[in-house]
Amino acid sequence: MKLKFIKIIMAILAVNAVVLTACASKTANNNAQPQIDKDMKSVIIYFTHSGNTELAAKDLAAVTGAKIIRLMPEQPYSSEDVDWVNEQSRCTQEHLDQSLRPAIKPVDVNFAAIDTVFIGFPIWWHEEPAVIRTFLDNYREQLKEKVIYPFCTSYESPMSEADATLRKGYPDYNWKTGLRFPADPDQIKKWIDQ
Ligand SMILES: Cc1cc2nc3c(=O)[nH]c(=O)nc-3n(C[C@H](O)[C@H](O)[C@H](O)COP(=O)(O)O)c2cc1C
Repeated sequence: MKLKFIKIIMAILAVNAVVLTACASKTANNNAQPQIDKDMKSVIIYFTHSGNTELAAKDLAAVTGAKIIRLMPEQPYSSEDVDWVNEQSRCTQEHLDQSLRPAIKPVDVNFAAIDTVFIGFPIWWHEEPAVIRTFLDNYREQLKEKVIYPFCTSYESPMSEADATLRKGYPDYNWKTGLRFPADPDQIKKWIDQ
């Protein structure tokens, strides 16, 4: 499966090369369908607050063809909720009390038809936000047999920190090494352009 993930990254680069070529010739190439692994039955489930992780999720969807699903908290996060300098804010409380599980809306996935789950999120406090833990708890039965690739966006924190907390919190899941996308949308594009 590690090989599959590497294939995805290579496919992103390959797709980008196709796009650049198409732009240079000013010719639309609507047939540039990214095909990386027809056997991979995957879904991309992501949480985002300000949109960066959604961009990353869409980039992955472009090369995998996977269904993309946004994880929605029952109670959306306001800007006050994500004020990490306020000790009383929702995000700080959910960080300090690791048992908290903010309710989420059900996700529309036929888990029986897929074998790989990409889970995307913004790094909050060097780790996954509590809503991700809610998802991992609520869908334990559906996820336990799947291959799981986490991915994140952050200002600077590496994916390895969330990789560690996810493995520690959910040791029975089949985790693969995650991928961090840069937080700035322009940087994401730049990363793909490399
Ligand atoms: C509550 C909160 C905590 C954060 N903690 C970190 C952190 O520990 N390390 C980091 O690099 N970025 C941190 N960030 C920045 C986000 O990870 C980054 O802006 C991310 O790309 C946002 O993704 P989104 O637009 O999908 O919500 C934090 C942001 C918020 C709102």
